[in-house]
Parts: sequence; structure tokens; C-alpha cells
Amino acid sequence: MSKPKVWVSRPLFADIVARLEPYFEVHAETDERAYSAVELRERLADVDAAIVGLSDRIDSDAIAAAKHLKIVANTGVGYNNLDLDALTAAGIAASNTPDVLTESVADFAWALMLGAARRISASERWLRAGQWKTSRFDGWLGADVHGSTLGILGMGRIGQAIARRASGFRTKVIYHNRSRLPADVERECGANYVDKDTLLAQSDHLILVLPFTAANRHAIGEAELARMKKTAVLVNIARGGIVDDAALARVLAAGDIAAAALDVYEGEPVVNPALLALDNVLLTPHIASASIDTRRAMAMLAVDNVLALFGHGPHADHPPTLLNPGVLASAG
Ligand code: DGY
Repeated sequence: MSKPKVWVSRPLFADIVARLEPYFEVHAETDERAYSAVELRERLADVDAAIVGLSDRIDSDAIAAAKHLKIVANTGVGYNNLDLDALTAAGIAASNTPDVLTESVADFAWALMLGAARRISASERWLRAGQWKTSRFDGWLGADVHGSTLGILGMGRIGQAIARRASGFRTKVIYHNRSRLPADVERECGANYVDKDTLLAQSDHLILVLPFTAANRHAIGEAELARMKKTAVLVNIARGGIVDDAALARVLAAGDIAAAALDVYEGEPVVNPALLALDNVLLTPHIASASIDTRRAMAMLAVDNVLALFGHGPHADHPPTLLNPGVLASAG
């Protein structure tokens, strides 16, 4: 009997992909690249399972010809690249990679906040350019993180992990979220709930961790930026499009907030040239979860979901992180 086929759209870790080989005919791409809608449709047409990345847009078009496809495993916690309704309607399971990346992404949020507040990448560029001739006592002044007020917009697992890190810095944490956390969780995180306007007005540093939805598009635009302190630092580790990047560039250029750090962009991997031209924004290429252990754990989890759906691996028949588990129930 022939094995089911799995398409892996991006290079993962060879030893982890090899876990699929006893059970699947594996078509694993060796280059990281973007696929056109036509290419995606072609790649998915003939396979039983797919492991995809955040730049693969899996919508009704992409699965139109995918008559055997049973699962799409996303290698990320955010899944705005998947049209979950279309997948569910087609009876295709979808999974993501929650939890395993929470702590690494929270570490990175702090790294970006500290880096932007203390001007680490701009000062390094200046040093590398051979401009360090004398040390000015009043040069490269940044903002303290310790003792400041940290605002978090979006208080899911990652937001909470960011908040928990604040105690060592004696940083006061305020947050806003669609729904307020239970009192015991707020206590454990040391975080106080405020409305969005208060969050914008009181945060010395504001970290965005909310999921991308149509309603969250430009959740931070011209009006919201205008409510922030002139000395504030804004960090986006959530998704491109949550911040209006063009408005942010204008506000940074005018000095209406002090600095920003971005790991995600509208239209990435293209970055708004107005941001590239500024020195008070620290820019990283969507790598918040990219520690060795975490990226391996994410790949492992994506593979576990695929194996499990076909009755194999440590979670046989119980894919651990399905986004639409109802699909399995209705498949009987
Ligand atoms: C995710 O998994 O959604 C993150 O953006 C990856 O860094």
C-alpha cells in the first residue's frame, strides 16, 4: 500500500522531518521562499498532509484542489495565514504551535524593549562605522526600564510571561486585553488591568502581543500613537498590520515618541523604507521565537500533530494542538 504524502513547505530540522519518513512519502522543500497562490494550490493538490509557515496563505483557493488533504500544521502560534473557516468547512484539521514558544518570545520582547530603550543597535552601528572618537557624558542617553511602567496590550500566554519577568526590574505592569484576567492570574503576573486609553497614556514602554484579526488591524495608528508619552518606547512582537507602520515612522521621525522596536511588519519581509531610514527604531526579521530549542520544539510539535492525525507518534490519534478539533469529531 502506498504511503500518504506530506508536503513540508520550508526547511525544518532534518532529524525532526525524518520522524515522518517511516509513515509518509515526504516532500520537504529545502529553500525558504514565498509561494504564489497557484503554486500553493498545486503543492496541496496531491498531498494528505502539509506543514506550512507563516507566509503560506492557506485559504479556500489554496485548498480548492486538495481532495486528500487532512491536516495543515502551521509552524507558529499565530495562524492568521490560515483561513480556519475554509479549512473547517472542507473537513481539514489545522494545528499551530502554542506554549512551546511562550518563554522565548517573552525573552525576546524584553530584549527588544531594553535594546530600543537603551539604544543598543543604533549605538553599535555608530561604533562599527568608526565614529567613536570621544565619549560624550551626555551622549547616547536612553530610557530606564527598571522602575518604569510597562504596558502590555494583549494578555494571553505570552503577555503573561512578559509580565512575570518584570519583578526583577521592579517595573510596574499595566495591561489591556479583550477580557480581564482572573484576579489570581493578575496577582501572579503582578499586572493591573486598565482601559486602552489609560494604557497608552501611562506606559513608559508598551509591548504589543495581541493576535492579528480584522478588528486589530491598525490597533496602534496615528490616534493611538498621539496618546502615548513623548518619551515612550513601543515594541511590536505580535503581527505586522497591528501597527500602522507609516504612521509610526512619521511619529518617530517627529520625535513624538522616543523609540520603537519591531519584529513584525506590514507586508513583511518588505519593510517600510521610512522605518529603515530612522535610527530610533530597532528592527529584527520576525525572529522572536528563534532560539534553537524553541524552533526545534515548534517543528517537533508540527510533526507530532501530523503523525497523530494518522495514528502515529507519541500522541497517536490525539493531535495535541488542533485549532479545529470539531473536524475530527465530525469525521467520526
Ligand atoms: C508565531 O509563532 O506566531 C511567531 O510570530 C513566530 O515568531
